[in-house]
Amino acid sequence: MLVYAGSASKYFGLKLAKQLEAEYVCVETRRFPDGEVYVRVEKEPRGETAVLVQSMYRAPNDYLVEYLFLSKTLKELGAREVVGVIPYFPYARQDARFKPGEAVSLAIVLELLEKMGTDRVVTVDMHLHRVRDIQELTRVPFANLSVMGEIGGYFKGRVGGNVVVVGPDEEAEQWAKAVAEVLGAPYMVLEKTRLGDTEVEVRAKGGVSLEGRDVLIVDDIISTGGTIEAAVRRVKERGARKVYVACAHAILAQNAEYRVFHEGVEELVASDTVPSPYSVISAVPVVASYLRSQL
Ligand code: R5P
Repeated sequence: MLVYAGSASKYFGLKLAKQLEAEYVCVETRRFPDGEVYVRVEKEPRGETAVLVQSMYRAPNDYLVEYLFLSKTLKELGAREVVGVIPYFPYARQDARFKPGEAVSLAIVLELLEKMGTDRVVTVDMHLHRVRDIQELTRVPFANLSVMGEIGGYFKGRVGGNVVVVGPDEEAEQWAKAVAEVLGAPYMVLEKTRLGDTEVEVRAKGGVSLEGRDVLIVDDIISTGGTIEAAVRRVKERGARKVYVACAHAILAQNAEYRVFHEGVEELVASDTVPSPYSVISAVPVVASYLRSQL
């Protein structure tokens, strides 16, 4: 097995190769002066399984094109199988035609992966909302792994025994529940209405009392920080004492850090699917252990 990594995930790829005790093959990635993408692998994968690692955050289009060039190239160079490890999977939220004329971007990305030689995909806490089962959209086998167990483990002993885990919207129930199970804590979800790309409205209705309790807000993605900003405000209004925030993918677009922190947050914790100063949890062991069991 050979591990290759695109420019978004060199360190993730290196750590994965070490944990798999597999060879890490250097990949040259650069831009031509006009912005076009260049890729070259330093070793051909003839007859071997090629694990291709590329998270697609912050510059998803560039990283996607790099990935597609690499996937097809590895296949052409004789890879027995191309396994795409895409820790942050882009365009998952555009999984339907919400307005007439819109592209269903997720379906297009999935088709591109298949056409460019990817035989299977491993991802982490993919935003599956309307599409609960990704296999409805693609024939390429998908493994959607999770770092929520690791997030729960990280907070054990760091939060008070009276902690409540809160999902900022209904979709986040799955992640809040998973973290709450590890902590042996109760969980609840808020109600969110999206007003635009950067603005949301979050309401707290019923649920567990937060008065004087620590709260751990858990979501899959922090993009502009609008969701977390509104959720922190609501739980504080409901009497929360210390507020912690955790997510799998800290995209942190625009002024997200300001929006997350300015209402008063003790700590922000994320995984390394998207590298950031908050990536104190690694998704590598989860991915490595899955690949070990499969390949
Ligand atoms: C969508 O519902 C996701 O689970 C996140 O809540 C959302 O993507 C966060 O986006 P933002 O940080 O821009 O509010």
